[in-house]
Order: sequence, then structure tokens, then C-alpha cells
Amino acid sequence: MVEPNASTPKRRYVLVCQYRSCARNGSAEVLAAFQSTVPAGVFAGGSDCMGQCASGPTVRVMPDGTWYCRVKPSHIPTIVQQHLYEDHLVEPLLHPRFHPRPDAYR
Ligand code: FES
Repeated sequence: MVEPNASTPKRRYVLVCQYRSCARNGSAEVLAAFQSTVPAGVFAGGSDCMGQCASGPTVRVMPDGTWYCRVKPSHIPTIVQQHLYEDHLVEPLLHPRFHPRPDAYR
């Protein structure tokens, strides 16, 4: 259970791919974990394929434009607390295609 320790979260949409590859890797459980813990004002729902099948389960947080990859149910409390309550990206879970690390090209 996530204990909110920040101000009221922004309104957001958390989209969890429920298509083939992601579903085979547990995206239904990821979605259920989000739906049981997101704060009021945040919608969590399933989506069709988001084109990142090799790195699923894929999660997008909108309107932030954040992509998370290889998300497991055990990651949800951290994403909810850090991203949705505290407005900090969960860097280890960011999809590198959309969120390249500054030192990735050195
Ligand atoms: S099956 Fe989930 S991104 Fe394609």
C-alpha cells in the first residue's frame, strides 16, 4: 500500500499495454496493481500495442509523455509514489528509446 506523502497529485492517465507481448509478460497484473493504488484524479487503463513490444510490459504516463519499460507489479508502488505523488521520474524504469541517458553516447 502506497502512503501518500506529498501534495495532491496532478491529473494523469496511466496507460498499460494489454496487447500480445505485454500480456504474455504480465501486463494484466501491472494494470491491476495500478488500478488498486493510483490516487484520486489519476486514471489507469489498458491500451492496445504501443509499438514497444520487445520491452514490455509498456506503460505510458500522460500528459507527461513518460515511457516506462519492462514494468512488473512490484514496481507499481515506486512509480505511484515517486512519479504520481512526488513528480519525479523513476529513472531505472524509463524506456531508453524515449528517455536516453545523458552519458549514453560517450
Ligand atoms: S504488445 Fe505491448 S507495446 Fe506492443
